[in-house]
Amino acid sequence: MARPRKPPKWLEAARHRASEDSGDWLARALSRAGVSPFGEAERLVQAGRVTVEGKVVRQPLAPLQLQARVEVDGQPVDVRPTTRVLMFHKPAGLVTAASDAEGEGTVFEALRRALPPSLQGYGWHAVGRLDRDTTGLLLFTNDERFVAHATQPQTHLPKRYLARVGAAVTEEKLAKLRAGVEVEAGVTSRPAQARAPEKDVVELTLTEGRYHQVKRMLNAVGLPTLALHREAVGGLVLDVAEGDVRELVEDEVRGALSYSPRCG
Ligand code: URA
Repeated sequence: MARPRKPPKWLEAARHRASEDSGDWLARALSRAGVSPFGEAERLVQAGRVTVEGKVVRQPLAPLQLQARVEVDGQPVDVRPTTRVLMFHKPAGLVTAASDAEGEGTVFEALRRALPPSLQGYGWHAVGRLDRDTTGLLLFTNDERFVAHATQPQTHLPKRYLARVGAAVTEEKLAKLRAGVEVEAGVTSRPAQARAPEKDVVELTLTEGRYHQVKRMLNAVGLPTLALHREAVGGLVLDVAEGDVRELVEDEVRGALSYSPRCG
């Protein structure tokens, strides 16, 4: 499978600048505030249905001060950022991408089907990615800063996986996984926790998330992955049925995910 391409540096820098507290782009602020997902927010703006400080603005990428008075169809909208985080139980078969050339579907489509109407209007970002065949805990958020927090290796947010493997798990292999194995040329995995709750199952807890990290680590010690499930991120343990979603409460975001949510 082709490795996902990183966005160019200028785009990352622009996104970072635009997610500063001082302001944002109009359409993105509307989608972050739950008015409508980004594409629809762009169309709302272009249709002249959005005013800023009493003036119609038709440019979706117009800069917006977050204290500005914004109205959509004459109704006031609070565009100050408020963090929302969702726990989703990803079924196998779905890609963590905006579209699926193979037609099996994306996690974003499945999320929209599962969401209550009160959460439909947000622009949701997946927090990291799970492979198509991986099941389990996938977080979504409306806050790009939370994505950066949860995915950057410096945060050391542990992620716990269960893998069913196609060979016998030995203490020697577990010891190698704990110490670190080469996952790509010249790159060794960080020390990890590893144990075998069953003879063909490995529970692996990692604080990094490179591309195909778990499968590569297991392969490196002669354990091909047959099935992979993520059951925990930080202190948060998956507790919804496959295909279901729930919103996290503020204490979970602060405590289990070590993040100070933005509260308007
Ligand atoms: N590591 C993998 O190999 N795949 C996943 O989906 C997640 C972590």
